[in-house]
Amino acid sequence: MNQNNKAESRLAATGPTQFPVERFAETPTPFYYYDIALLRATLEAINRGADHDGFHVHYAVKANSNPELLKVIAGAGLGADTVSLGEIEAAIAAGFAAADVVFAGVGKTDREIAEALRLGVGCLNVESAEELEVIISIASEMGVKAPVALRVNPEIDAHTHHYITTGLAENKFGIAMSMLPALMERCREAQEVDFRGLHFHIGSQITDLTPYRILCERINALQEEYAGYDIPTLNVGGGLGIDYDHPDEHPIPDFEAYFGIFAECLKLRHGQELHFELGRAVTGQCGSLISRVTYVKQGVGKRFVITDAGMTDLIRPALYQAHHKIENLTSQSDHCERYDVVGPICESSDRFGESELLPVTSRGDLLAFRSAGAYGEVMASQYNCRSLPGKLYDF
Ligand code: LLP
Repeated sequence: MNQNNKAESRLAATGPTQFPVERFAETPTPFYYYDIALLRATLEAINRGADHDGFHVHYAVKANSNPELLKVIAGAGLGADTVSLGEIEAAIAAGFAAADVVFAGVGKTDREIAEALRLGVGCLNVESAEELEVIISIASEMGVKAPVALRVNPEIDAHTHHYITTGLAENKFGIAMSMLPALMERCREAQEVDFRGLHFHIGSQITDLTPYRILCERINALQEEYAGYDIPTLNVGGGLGIDYDHPDEHPIPDFEAYFGIFAECLKLRHGQELHFELGRAVTGQCGSLISRVTYVKQGVGKRFVITDAGMTDLIRPALYQAHHKIENLTSQSDHCERYDVVGPICESSDRFGESELLPVTSRGDLLAFRSAGAYGEVMASQYNCRSLPGKLYDF
C-alpha cells in the first residue's frame, strides 16, 4: 500500500485534536509545524510575568530564527539577543529595532563588530579583554562610541547537560571574576566606550530555579563591590527550561515564578534596568517535527520504527541525549507496543527513542516529535545530501 494513502485512511477517527492532521496528510514530510496561537499565548504570559519595574525581555534568536516566528515575537515587544551578523540582520528584518538588539558571542569578527556599530545595536556583550580592545579600536576608527556590557562568568553550576552549561570557570564563555576589576576600569576610562552594564548567563534547560536565586545573590554582592561604578543595566541571560515530557500539561513555562525570583531576590539600583534573554522558553513548545513512518522493521528481539525524519532535522537527541515526546497521530489501535524510533541517517546516534511505548504503529503513520520549536529547525543540516525540513504554520 502506498504510504500516503495509508495515513489518509487512518485520519478520520483518531487524530489528536490539537494537531490539524488532515493538513499534515497533504504536506510532504518531514516538516516543522508551528502553533502560532501557542506562541502568542506564551508571549502574553511572558509579558504578564515580567511586568515589574525595569524588566525587559529579549528573545535569544539562536533558539529559532524562523522569520514568521521572529515577526510575532518582535510584535509582542520583546528585544532580540543575537550572536552573529546573520542573526542581527534577521532580527532587524523581522521588525526588531536595532536599539533593542544585543550582540553577544565569544568570537565576534571585526566585520561583525563594525556592522553592529554601524547598524546601531543597543549593546555588545563583551566576553574577553582581547575583544574589548578590538571593539575600542574599531569604534575609534569609526568615530563612534560603542555600547558595551561585560559578560561575567558567575561560576554557578546550573546542573544541566554539560554541553549546555555555560556559567562555570572551565567554559570558554565570559570574563572571570578575577579579571573584572581591570575591565571595569578600562570601560570607565575609554572614551570610545559607553558602558551599559554587566551580563550573565548560567546555562540552558534549567528546570530547578535555585541556581537563579544563587545568581541573584552573586549579582547583589557584585553590585556592592562595584558601588562606585555606574551600571545602568544588568542582563541575567536565559536558560529557563521547558517540560519536554509533558508538553500538553505544561505548554507554557511558569514565567511568574521565574521572573518573581528576580523581583524578590535581586536588589536593583534606582533606575537600573534588568534584561532577560530567553530562547527555549519562548519558542520550544510551539513547534513539533512531523514525520512519516517509512518502515516498521522487525529486528532481533526488538522492533524499529524508521521515520523519514532524522538527526539532520532534529539533532538534539543525537547531540545531547535529549528526548522529545513522540506521538503517533494516525494509529487507530488501542493496543500499545514498544519500538525503537530511529531515523534514516547512517549514524547509530540517529535515534529519537528507545523502547518507546506507542500505539501499534505501521508504515505510513504520522508521528509528532513534540517540543521541537527551539534548537530544532535552526540546527538542521543537509548531511547525507538531504533536503532541509519543510514548515507548516497554524496562525
Ligand atoms: N543567552 C546566552 C548568552 C546564551 O548562550 C543562550 C543559549 C541563551 C541566552 C538562551 O538560552 P535558552 O533560554 O534558550 O536556554 N542547542 C542547545 C542549547 C544551547 C544554548 C546556547 N545558549 C539545546 O538544544 O539544548
